[in-house]
Amino acid sequence: MARRKLVAGNWKMNGSRAALTELDAIAQAAATRPGVDVAVALPATLIAPAAERAPALSIGAEDVHAADHGAHTGCISAAMVKEAGARFSIVGHSERRADQGETDADVKAKAEALHRHGLHAIVCVGETLDEREAGHAEAVVTAQIAGSLPDGASGDWCSIAYEPVWAIGTGRTPTADDVAAMHGAIRAKLRELIGGEADRLRILYGGSVTPDNARELLHVADVDGALVGGASLTAAKFVPVIAAAR
Ligand code: 13P
Repeated sequence: MARRKLVAGNWKMNGSRAALTELDAIAQAAATRPGVDVAVALPATLIAPAAERAPALSIGAEDVHAADHGAHTGCISAAMVKEAGARFSIVGHSERRADQGETDADVKAKAEALHRHGLHAIVCVGETLDEREAGHAEAVVTAQIAGSLPDGASGDWCSIAYEPVWAIGTGRTPTADDVAAMHGAIRAKLRELIGGEADRLRILYGGSVTPDNARELLHVADVDGALVGGASLTAAKFVPVIAAAR
């Protein structure tokens, strides 16, 4: 089954209004590659100015709260990021699972909140180095999928990002064979959970994707795109990753 590739950036806690000039060339690269979906997740304060500056680009959030509103000081809801111009959000990034103690159940509820508001969810999973070295990577990741996948998950509004924690920001990546094995295991788990719809969900790879390794990683079996941190901060690095997707 042919799935369109999705190349998504994640600026994390980086960037400023001045840095939004980078989006101009990224939007242009997206417009000239109609076969690839391009998206950029930004700090909440940059969503509105980015959506205004690059209306054709899919701008998103890096996290949302599971509730629509309420007494949750410092949090932002799916409805709020949508009003600011977001079309999607990342949920369950390993940095939030680690720093904010987010559980699979939290991640699932956040993804369902996004769906309630018509936004796309990118649900992140990934094992730590200890878990991989102990031989538990596939068990850990498939359990995260089972716990984090939103009810009624459909390829129309949900994607998965496999990001091994030890590959994030380290310059280390799994081998193409390891990526193929994990993406295959994720696809098999999705089939078990949602049947044929599993073939419509995109499974992105994330963790030290660069212009140098993007072509190889993006063409591994069952890799339907990339979630890119550091290399998404500048057009000079992100545009070649987009170009490598096809
Ligand atoms: P890096 O591409 O900087 O390794 O980050 C990956 C990531 O965490 C994207 O969500």
